[in-house]
Amino acid sequence: MIRIREANSSDVVSLQNLIQEWIVTRKLFPSKGGVDFDDLKKFVCGSNQCFCVVAEDEDEKNLVGYALCTFNYAVWLGKSIMLENIYVKKNYRLKGIGKRLISSVLKHSLAKGCRNLNFYTEEEDECKPFFAKFGAEDRTVTEGWLVYTLPHESILSIVDRQN
Ligand SMILES: CC(C)(COP(=O)(O)OP(=O)(O)OC[C@H]1O[C@@H](n2cnc3c(N)ncnc32)[C@H](O)[C@@H]1OP(=O)(O)O)[C@@H](O)C(=O)NCCC(=O)NCCS
Repeated sequence: MIRIREANSSDVVSLQNLIQEWIVTRKLFPSKGGVDFDDLKKFVCGSNQCFCVVAEDEDEKNLVGYALCTFNYAVWLGKSIMLENIYVKKNYRLKGIGKRLISSVLKHSLAKGCRNLNFYTEEEDECKPFFAKFGAEDRTVTEGWLVYTLPHESILSIVDRQN
């Protein structure tokens, strides 16, 4: 039996392992060794910026998936929720768990007054058909949006130059 519930502090070790599993399968940041445990714990459990739901296999007593979200505010739209990451372990996929995680996120986002759910994917991402099932709109196509980032090193050098 799979139970979908909000994450709590006792989930953080398992959550970190799942995140690490996702990082490895996606070949992301291989040299950095994953996320800092204390930061993750503070963010997931001690901050109102984050909403995290987990899927727990109650028979096996382990976590098999999660959806981790943050809250945003856009001046022309108001509050929205950003799905930072959703992950379901490989042998639990296509059983409706991802859909249940998203439903739980959507319910919570409405209760918090959010209007939209946003997320990023890559062009060839295997999760695109999953999101298409929910009627997600590609805003790069509909509105021409591009995603930019200012890397940490750039921020440090700008701040350094100003001091
Ligand atoms: C994307 C992911 C979370 C989906 O989880 P899941 O538990 O397998 O999804 P569900 O079983 O709830 O599927 C919901 C619907 O999407 C469809 N779907 C899910 N994955 C699909 C895929 N790879 N290709 C086509 N359809 C897919 C299902 O068939 C189902 O359709 P239905 O409602 O008509 O029955 C999971 O594949 C995963 O963890 N992928 C790796 C991580 C990832 O890519 N995360 C997203 C980036 S943040």
